[in-house]
Amino acid sequence: MTPRTNDRSGAAAGRSTVVLGIETSCDETAAAVVAREGDRGQILSNVVRAQWEKHRRYGGVVPEIAARAHLECLDEIIAQAMAEAKVDFGDLDAVAATGGPGLIGGLLVGVTTAKALTLAHRIPFIAVNHLEAHALTVGLTDGLRPPYLLLLVSGGHTQLLIVRDVGRYERLGTTIDDALGEAFDKTAKLLDLGFPGGPAVEKAAASGTPGRFSLPRPMQGRAEPHFSFAGLKTAVRHQAQAAAPLSQRDVADLCAEFQTAVAESVADRVKRAMAIADERLPDAPKHLVVAGGVAANRQLQSALADVAAKAGYSLHAPPLELCGDNAAMVAWAGAERLARGWIDGLDFTARARWPLDPDATPALGAGKQGAKA
Ligand code: KG4
Ligand code: ZN
Repeated sequence: MTPRTNDRSGAAAGRSTVVLGIETSCDETAAAVVAREGDRGQILSNVVRAQWEKHRRYGGVVPEIAARAHLECLDEIIAQAMAEAKVDFGDLDAVAATGGPGLIGGLLVGVTTAKALTLAHRIPFIAVNHLEAHALTVGLTDGLRPPYLLLLVSGGHTQLLIVRDVGRYERLGTTIDDALGEAFDKTAKLLDLGFPGGPAVEKAAASGTPGRFSLPRPMQGRAEPHFSFAGLKTAVRHQAQAAAPLSQRDVADLCAEFQTAVAESVADRVKRAMAIADERLPDAPKHLVVAGGVAANRQLQSALADVAAKAGYSLHAPPLELCGDNAAMVAWAGAERLARGWIDGLDFTARARWPLDPDATPALGAGKQGAKA
């Protein structure tokens, strides 16, 4: 993408800008309208339609079904977002759509719709990186500006990054195998808890006791703040097989131990990333931001709050409804880019892969890197 200067940018002229955001990168169809005035944002509408029931019986997201579902309902979701925000297309300063990373069929639906709207209404089109949208959400919700340390934990990504500025990301760590959300989803599938797995595991864990089963704390103590969850998932399978048939209590205790292992492993990795961030940004305020679907997990949040407090960091997490995929974060990232005059041409093509830090070296031993966001 080559950013171009846009002289329609209202923010440059000091007035408020209004951006329609579209999110179709995975299994939520979403549209939202966000206004940006100065550095502050306001959500005028935020419509999310999950497709879980369409994918549930397959135990995971089926890309073709997702793309078709986006196509079927996106126009209606956009109309609803515009109506709830009480704005007309003529009031919009830009349309921003997730341009990647994600499932290519869904991305194409969102990007093509956004391009058509911008062409018809003669306003700029902005392609937003889904990970950047998660990364910048705290600007919308808490007014927090970079630099900050970011833990991004979703269904397809698990990364620690220094957010130096909008558009400037330095990756410190990533997963060498499964993403954290994927580990939750696979654990839920293994234990027959349904889909999506994260909330189901969290619910089961609430009535369980950690420690009755014993699971590893992956990567603990390693110098580089990378993650690994494949071994943990396999350990859950072995323990489940050994204890079969599982009672409800077994499932709850396994989930509680899994969640504790995750929280302790992630907290250890974050602690390591804080030490690196302190060296690289010695004068910056100490903020830890957690974003992405798994950020909704309460035990993880409380483990992070502990590490943050000990290291003198403040912890920022978006409200629950903005942790998972939504279009308000896309509209806000679009507004941030618009304010800098960064818009995209209609020749932009959707990207299944789109790293935030293209210069990051692959993690040693890296196997699969999630292609979805
Ligand atoms: O960011 P997101 O909505 O979509 C992607 O971009 O991937 O993240 C979805 C992931 C799923 O793997 C889901 O199981 C997980 O976030 N998740 C959770 C919780 N809520 C959602 N994981 C653990 N605890 C939760 N409460
Ligand atoms: Zn996401």
